Amino acid sequence: MELNLEAQKAQFLDICRTCIHREGIEDLLAWLQKADFFTAPASTKYHGSYAGGLCQHSLDVYEQAKRLAFLLPTPPSEESLAVAALFHDLCKVNMYKTEKRNQKINGTWQEVPCYVIEEKFHFGGHGAKSVFLVQQFMKLHTDEAAAINCHMGFSDGNASVVRDVSNAYTQFPLAWLIHVADEAATYLLDR
Ligand SMILES: [Fe+2]
Ligand SMILES: [Fe+2]
Repeated sequence: MELNLEAQKAQFLDICRTCIHREGIEDLLAWLQKADFFTAPASTKYHGSYAGGLCQHSLDVYEQAKRLAFLLPTPPSEESLAVAALFHDLCKVNMYKTEKRNQKINGTWQEVPCYVIEEKFHFGGHGAKSVFLVQQFMKLHTDEAAAINCHMGFSDGNASVVRDVSNAYTQFPLAWLIHVADEAATYLLDR
């Protein structure tokens, strides 16, 4: 998967600077540029497993959230939608590395590059880690924090967590929106 990484990065930064006017946003963007956000994959072998996949997936979730926002009783602000969608997967920053593995291609074994997880910051929660990382630089509104924290939906499997995620979706429609936008980007759009 070949992407124009510079164009994708410019698009991401432009949306952030147009929609988000909050103290700390430039510090957050500086960190993203210093880290591997703009070159990282979105997963090792599922959606967006290519260089730039994480940024592309974040932009896809933003586009899907904008497209589906009409379903909410009150549309979220442009700023909250951008914050929750664009930063929901920051937990994946600095989390992948490349390795070589053997793969049989046309009957012969060849070494091919692949992504593997090398977690350097264990936090004990996917969405929770993203919330923490954003808030190292910029304060989140309550509904944005719930949206980022609960974007994985009910996949945790623990009954009390499932009940609380369900209640969060009722209390904060933005949280439900980011969850369905994430699913749409993952299952309908992935290249
Ligand atoms: Fe995620
Ligand atoms: Fe995601």
